[in-house]
Amino acid sequence: MDHFNYRDGALWAEDVPLTRIAAEVGTPVYVYSTATLTRHFGLFRQALEWTDHLVCFAVKANSNLAVLKLMGDLGAGMDVVSGGEYARAKAAGVPGDRIVFSGVGKTLAEMRQAIEGGIRQFNIESEPEMRALSALAASMGAEVPIAVRVNPDVDAKTHEKIATGKSENKFGIPIARAREVYAEAAALPGLKVVGIDVHIGSQLTDLDPYRQAYAKVAELTQVLRGDGHAITRLDLGGGLGIPYRRDNNVPPLPLEYGQVIRDAVGHLGCEIEIEPGRNIVGNAGVLLSQVIYVKEGEGRNFLIVDAAMNDLLRPAMYGAHHDIVPVVEPVAGSEGRSFDVVGPVCESGDTFQKGTSLPDMAAGDLIAFRSAGAYGAVMASEYNSRPLVPEVLVSGDQFAVIRARPTYEDMLARDSIPGWL
Ligand code: LLP
Repeated sequence: MDHFNYRDGALWAEDVPLTRIAAEVGTPVYVYSTATLTRHFGLFRQALEWTDHLVCFAVKANSNLAVLKLMGDLGAGMDVVSGGEYARAKAAGVPGDRIVFSGVGKTLAEMRQAIEGGIRQFNIESEPEMRALSALAASMGAEVPIAVRVNPDVDAKTHEKIATGKSENKFGIPIARAREVYAEAAALPGLKVVGIDVHIGSQLTDLDPYRQAYAKVAELTQVLRGDGHAITRLDLGGGLGIPYRRDNNVPPLPLEYGQVIRDAVGHLGCEIEIEPGRNIVGNAGVLLSQVIYVKEGEGRNFLIVDAAMNDLLRPAMYGAHHDIVPVVEPVAGSEGRSFDVVGPVCESGDTFQKGTSLPDMAAGDLIAFRSAGAYGAVMASEYNSRPLVPEVLVSGDQFAVIRARPTYEDMLARDSIPGWL
């Protein structure tokens, strides 16, 4: 459930009509709902209330400071994968002991930043990384908590670009090698083994891959404990999918996911961490856009809108589907027209949807791309020198611009022309 609904003939975010945001902030613009974010976070919490846990919001899904502050104030931890994300989490007021650092290529500078700023745990992805962290921590006189990310070789049954738990993926250490790696970790200075980490992919719509992966983690926990390691924490990753189409195929709910976790690892008495991103913020956001032209092509109509692939990359990059809805509520029973919805960027790949049915549209009409809160603004670029799309947060009947639209001057000011030109 989200808080984007038709009211008085138009689409609203909570108690704010999207037409008002379009008029005051302009389009394209991302709009997020506080009530939806809060509700979704609460569902994960509820799903794990049977045990000690920390829900670490995956910052990569949406890293706006206001979103992170909202999450942090609700009690969330953060899963970060870069120094930049770490800096954002800290700037949003999240204490270091609620920040988990994941990612295959942490640099020494990033590790140092997190050790100095405080860290809950590093999720280690390779032996070279583990040795580098050990040497750095020891040189700083620190002892840092670590979990080793194991690759369970499980098919997450999701898009190949976002599956991470198969042996051919670059992530984690093959689970078969885990015992040697933990033995080395225990012997290295500067490291304190606290747990095991796993993450098998994103937009999972089936709980079975989780069952398989978590069963392997449970088994490994017992084996490692037998070897003398204190495994007190399990980080079970993120990845629970969301319904991108409102009409079918609803993925499992956080509560069902929590039950899978309980069944698989509940008996071990470990503290549980999870790292959901998309499920919390995906359906808490829309991308609001305006029709520039309706162009009649050969046997097809193009709806040329002011949002483009640089603003919402997922359709071009993964062939992803985002429901497109008119902001003016369609009259029930009225005939739709078929449109190819495209952006202004000079590539045929700048196509959001082909042959989608919408009411008759005219220049100036507003549309909303649903489910755009996750991996939307964060993946945006300035391709075609289109300034980064702004972001707005709604709460009840109020809204605030949480990232302003850069002016052309802002955009140009980052470049400089060397003196010899
Ligand atoms: N933890 C780790 C270690 C991850 O790699 C990811 C996502 C997450 C948590 C959060 O997964 P989520 O709950 O959001 O599914 N850009 C792609 C998604 C890439 C996901 C990468 N890792 C997309 O737009 O679909």
